Amino acid sequence: MLKTLQETVSFLRPQIPAETKIGVILGTGLGDLANSITDKHEIFYETIPHFPVSTVEGHSGKLIVGKLGGKPVLAMQGRFHFYEGYDMKQVTYPVRVMQLLGFEYLFVSNAAGGMNGSFRIGDIMLIEDHINLFPEHPLRGKNFAELGTRFPDMSEAYDKKLRNLATSIAEKNNIKLQYGVYVGTQGPTFETPAEYYYFKVIGGDAVGMSTVPEVIVARHGGMKVLAFSIITDLGVLGKIVEVSHEEVQKAAKIAQPKMAFIMEEVIKQL
Ligand code: HPA
Repeated sequence: MLKTLQETVSFLRPQIPAETKIGVILGTGLGDLANSITDKHEIFYETIPHFPVSTVEGHSGKLIVGKLGGKPVLAMQGRFHFYEGYDMKQVTYPVRVMQLLGFEYLFVSNAAGGMNGSFRIGDIMLIEDHINLFPEHPLRGKNFAELGTRFPDMSEAYDKKLRNLATSIAEKNNIKLQYGVYVGTQGPTFETPAEYYYFKVIGGDAVGMSTVPEVIVARHGGMKVLAFSIITDLGVLGKIVEVSHEEVQKAAKIAQPKMAFIMEEVIKQL
């Protein structure tokens, strides 16, 4: 694992400015943020040693090296989902690479279903916490002390200072933000009404098929995390309608400029 990672890092190191401290993972239908990145240089996943290659429609797989909000960033356009058949080490591999490149921050976006009755389609939810319901843990197996501690703390998985910064930026710019707990589940089915209700009862506000594994590994590696869900459909009793991947992408696309604005402003102020 470590040797493999080192080979990936050695390949990428010369292509990524040494001052780069921010990694960004762009979720389903949320790839447009990449258009705001300037001085761009793209690296396709299939050219990177040991990198998994993404398969799902709506996810193009490449790293984008460049500047966002005046700061050097590395964005992942296309992530690896557990439901695609990758194991957890593959799902989280890019985050490990970011860690070994010396990154300090991970910004994450995703599309999610909303269980909270006050949410509307197109809302942006700042993730305050998560519930991990994936059937396999990304840290299961031998722990490499060089990468992090065996039993990592998760009392503040989503960095409070970054969350406060995002909140104040949203308030100043009249952007409505919702706040809540993200439930990470394996998919690929969307939820039955009973499952949405169950996720609400256990304390969830939104549910999706990503983010939690990457955030766990980022925290294990000491990176600070800021994450947003775009609410693309509602898992609220009485409001549940048929949902498709296409609708999720469409709803995400509409909301994404506001989320992109907040992310860029946070990055400016880091
Ligand atoms: N459930 C799970 N994942 C999702 C959903 C949902 O309702 N919407 C977008 N991603």
